Amino acid sequence: MNQPDVFAWDAPSLAEACRGRLRIGAAVNTWDLDEASPACAAIRRQFDILTLENESKPVNVQPEEGRFVFDKLDRFTDFGQKNGITLRGHTLVWHSQVPGWLFEGEDGAPASKEQLLSRMQAHIGTVVSRYRGKIATWDVLNEVLRDEGGLRESKWYKIAGRDYIPAAFQAAHEADPDARLLINDYNLESSEAKADTMAALVEELLRAGTPVGGIGLQMHLSLYTDLELLKKNVRKLAALRAFAPDLRLEVTELDVSCYRFDDTAEDLLWTDALETAFREKYAALFRFYGELADEGTLDTVVFWGLSDAVSWLNGFPRRHKNYPLLIGRGWRVKPAFYDVLALAGNKEAQS
Ligand code: XIL
Repeated sequence: MNQPDVFAWDAPSLAEACRGRLRIGAAVNTWDLDEASPACAAIRRQFDILTLENESKPVNVQPEEGRFVFDKLDRFTDFGQKNGITLRGHTLVWHSQVPGWLFEGEDGAPASKEQLLSRMQAHIGTVVSRYRGKIATWDVLNEVLRDEGGLRESKWYKIAGRDYIPAAFQAAHEADPDARLLINDYNLESSEAKADTMAALVEELLRAGTPVGGIGLQMHLSLYTDLELLKKNVRKLAALRAFAPDLRLEVTELDVSCYRFDDTAEDLLWTDALETAFREKYAALFRFYGELADEGTLDTVVFWGLSDAVSWLNGFPRRHKNYPLLIGRGWRVKPAFYDVLALAGNKEAQS
């Protein structure tokens, strides 16, 4: 790929350019926080908000009932405090990367609804209160909807019905009344049915007084994502602010895969046409994010990974070499990085 030979830590700072308009972040792992590492240099220069990619998920935080493992989250929050970086907590309730014991009752039977809800409340209460005031935003619920609309029939749902949804928000709010509490999901931009379900669910929760602070749009996109549909669906969610003005949208896991979902190729030839498509996609996205930011709807955009070299999309949905981020392999920023820099921020910070 034809990239300017500038390292992420020497390039102008995207976070700085966007300050006051959008926070710009990335998903990281605690090994990236090692002061001497290139990852840490890239983080310090480019990002002002961070999410842990895996280490704060339930299976890692409470692998066995009552045995909490906090060393990674402690390291993360210490780093954030020391460096003045805002932190997101990902995630409290999910169907994946969740320990099996949560759903197990006596003698191999499934847990009862009461048991599951009380375990959920204990998990949320313990984790959120420990980091009260240190983690600004929690992805309280992750991926609870189906792509074709309706609620996902996860073990959570099968055992507890829809009641776990408001209960999770209540438990998080009691543990940290100042944290922003989100419901986070993917394909909200590409499935109208899913966006409709999300809008209806959040409206219902808000009307019942549930402390929902916002909607997380994962935005795992591709070069082939329909941006008109994306805008329409995002606008639908933004419209909830008409009766809940404090509600915010966050882009929580942005990346732009260079493959169609069903493409089985292991690599692709980086042509000028691909380069143009990649740049145009990112530019159009950040133009839209800027509009949303200016009207107060969106204040955070987090990339899912620090660079192409470590993106999960090299292994999902299959093993192939992907190029989804603005920082390429070898920590070099891409032409699209400069396009976004020019678009996203306030002008003074870029000079
Ligand atoms: C992914 C991580 O990036 C991978 O390293 C891990 O193997 C699986 O999970 N939606 C989410 C994230 O909410 O937690 C997922 O992260 C990506 C999709």
